[in-house]
Amino acid sequence: MDVFRVGTRTGMKPLSEKSFFNYATVAPMSRTAYEAARTFMDDFYQYGPPEVLHRYDLLADNMATEAARLINCSSDEITYLKNTTEGIIIASEALPLRCGDEVLVLGNEYPANLLPWLRKRQEGVKVKVITGSDSEGAFRRLIETIGPRTKAISMSSAQRYDGFMPNLALLSGKCRDLGIFLVVDAVQHIGARTVDVSKTPVDILVCGGQKYLRAGLGIGFMYVSRSVMPALRDSRVGIRSVEHFDEDSYILKGTAARFQDGTQNMPGLAALHSALREINNIGMDAIEQKNLAILEGLKAILRENKIDFIDFGVLQSNIVAIRTPDPSALVNFLMERGVYTKAIQDVTRVSFIHESKLEDIEVMACYMREFLNGGRIAVRGAVRRKAAPAESPTGPNSLRISAPLPSI
Ligand SMILES: Cc1ncc(COP(=O)(O)O)c(C=O)c1O
Repeated sequence: MDVFRVGTRTGMKPLSEKSFFNYATVAPMSRTAYEAARTFMDDFYQYGPPEVLHRYDLLADNMATEAARLINCSSDEITYLKNTTEGIIIASEALPLRCGDEVLVLGNEYPANLLPWLRKRQEGVKVKVITGSDSEGAFRRLIETIGPRTKAISMSSAQRYDGFMPNLALLSGKCRDLGIFLVVDAVQHIGARTVDVSKTPVDILVCGGQKYLRAGLGIGFMYVSRSVMPALRDSRVGIRSVEHFDEDSYILKGTAARFQDGTQNMPGLAALHSALREINNIGMDAIEQKNLAILEGLKAILRENKIDFIDFGVLQSNIVAIRTPDPSALVNFLMERGVYTKAIQDVTRVSFIHESKLEDIEVMACYMREFLNGGRIAVRGAVRRKAAPAESPTGPNSLRISAPLPSI
């Protein structure tokens, strides 16, 4: 019996029937990423090694070229990761932190950006955790906490809880001035907003491919600034990280590839390469403009429906956190109606991409209103993508966003 086939597809709703607003968790794969991974798998299956390995030999380099184009650095400063957590683990191991050195992190981060740092306490590193779910206040306190022993700061450039985007230029400037290493988890940022490491320097930046890049699972990339490279420890050494080795010694590569190890995730690399190339070809600025317009439209729809949310103006990524009494119940209520969101602590998190539709957001808001009114507002008919519900007492159908969304 093939356990991966029998019955597994029953009860699964196809994406075409979903109103998907949970890109900040795991996004559906983009068509281009899917086709690239599938082409690699077809080639590998049909033609196999060694020809296929030779043919795809430059895939990691090509991915690095596209990632470098996206964040404005040299391709030598990019390597691949299996996920964001791996990048933070590498940063926590490779930075030259000693007993008594201080690292600052935020407590309300995703565990990827907290646990690898907490482990450093075993080595006598003082890890100060700035707690609290008020992201703006926590960032302010993090800046105030910087002291003479602070050697590294690690934080997300867009917070997964509420989309808050800290003033990265301010943080970057402070870290430069004070000689503090800056590690950035940009998984909720890249593909949603522009990142330019030449304008806003950071030492290490990591990003999984499963969210706004829509590259699927188990692949991501890491930027390691050329300037920090000589200070880093050999935290991981394998055949792909060395320039040369013999039975007795090795010489590390001088590029970010020094953090590679052994056999590569080729389907993942193919998907990530294509996903990045597509974003670059469309243009990140155009994607950002569209995202900002959708963010404004989403907020207008929520206000129109009197739905309370955390608002950071334009200092907000493609995430809006909605304050509701029982987020898990709301998320289930919406999912039963084909609308996918995510409960995080005390909020319902809505996250979108530049292809998201305001019509679908209107439908979602209408269902939220219905839930908040204790189910008293009947929405007739199932959610149909691109179609608002037949009846809506709060009138989201009549809402018109002042400016049309930019087309890209
Ligand atoms: C800020 C942040 N970092 C990292 C991750 C994911 O980490 P990983 O790519 O290791 O699964 C998430 C969400 O899943 C996140 O929101």
